[in-house]
Amino acid sequence: KRRIGVMTSGGDAPGMNGAVRAVVRMTLHYGCEAFAIYEGYDGLVKGGDMIKQMGWEDVRGFLSEGGTLIGTARCMEFMERAGRLQAAKNMIVKGIDALVICGGDGSLTGADKFRAEWPGLLKELVENGDLTEEKVEPFKYLNIVGLVGSIDNDLSMTDATIGCYSSLARICEAVDSVDTTATSHQRAFVIEVMGRHCGWLALMAGVSTGADFIFIPEIPPPDNWEEDMCKIIKKHRDLGKRKTIVIVAEGAHDRNLKKITPQHVKTLLSEKAKLDTRITTLGHVQRGGTPCAYDRMLATLQGVEAVKAVLEATPETPSPVICMIENKIVRRPLLEAVAQTKEVATAIHAKDFDRAMLLRDAE
Ligand code: F6P
Repeated sequence: KRRIGVMTSGGDAPGMNGAVRAVVRMTLHYGCEAFAIYEGYDGLVKGGDMIKQMGWEDVRGFLSEGGTLIGTARCMEFMERAGRLQAAKNMIVKGIDALVICGGDGSLTGADKFRAEWPGLLKELVENGDLTEEKVEPFKYLNIVGLVGSIDNDLSMTDATIGCYSSLARICEAVDSVDTTATSHQRAFVIEVMGRHCGWLALMAGVSTGADFIFIPEIPPPDNWEEDMCKIIKKHRDLGKRKTIVIVAEGAHDRNLKKITPQHVKTLLSEKAKLDTRITTLGHVQRGGTPCAYDRMLATLQGVEAVKAVLEATPETPSPVICMIENKIVRRPLLEAVAQTKEVATAIHAKDFDRAMLLRDAE
C-alpha cells in the first residue's frame, strides 16, 4: 500500500485546498494511504503531529475554501542538508515515499533536489544509527510530483497556474469598484497589481478592464514612454472618457531595468496630463478569498493526475509537474519547466525582451 504525502508551499493561492482534496481522495480511491504535511516544508522537517493521516471526510468543504487550510511556510531549515536529512527520517518513520507538492517554482525545485539526494540521505541515516537498514529498505526511491500553485501564473509550460484566475477576478472586481469613483470625479487611478517578476496578472487585468495603459516587466515601454502615455491618455479623454486607469505590475521597469513606480506614474499623470490622480495598491486582497470555478476545476483535475503520476512513476521517470496546455491536463518534466521559467528572468536581465515574451508563451 503506497503512502502519499501532500503539502502546500510558498505563497498561498486560491485553489490549493482543492488540490489537497483531490490528492487525498484520489489516493484513497486507489486504495493507498494519504497524509497531509502541515505548514509546508516546516512540517516535513518537524515531523510528528505535523504529518497527519487523512481520511475522506478530512477534506470535506476544502474545494471552495481560499488560502491553504494545511498551512504554508517559507522554510529556511529545508534549504540546509541537515533539515532535509531530518525530513527524510520523518517521512520514513511515517512510511511515506511519495510527495505531491503544490507551490511555486522554488518549492518544486527544492522537492526535486530532495529526490536527487534521497539515496544519500537514507545512507546517512543508517550510518548515523538513526534508522536501521531494514527500516529504510522499502523506501529506496522517492517520488515527487509538482502542482503549480501561484497567483502569478509565472511557470512556463503551463497555460494557467492554480490561483491565477481567482486573483485576476479579484483584481477585476477591484478595478470595477475604482472605476465608479474615478468616473464620478473624472480622476485617474494608478493601480499596482502583484505578480512578482511576471506581468500576466497586469496584462490580463488590463485586457479585462479596458485599462488605458499597462506596465509589465516582459515588455518594457519604449524610451519616450512618458510622453507616449500622456498622449494616449489625453486622446482617450478627448474621446469623452471620464476616468483613467493605469495598471502597473509590481515588477515593472523601463528598458534600462529602472523600476517604474506607481508614484512616478502618478506624478506624470498629475503634472503632465493635469489629472487628479490617486494610487491604489491592491496588495494581498489579490491573493485572498474563495477560488473561482476555474481554479477549483484546475486544482481537482491536476490533483487527480498527480496521484496517477505517482502510481505510474518508475525510478527513472523525471519528476513531473502537472500542467494545463490548451485545455488538456498534461505532465511535463519539472526541472525543464523551472529552467525555462528561470530563462525568462535571465532574458529580462539581459534586456532581451523579445525572448522573454517568447519564453513565457512557449509550451
Ligand atoms: O508569488 C505570489 C506573490 O503574491 C507575488 O505576486 C508577490 O510578489 C509575493 O507573493 C508577495 O509575497 P509575500 O506574501 O511574502 O509578501
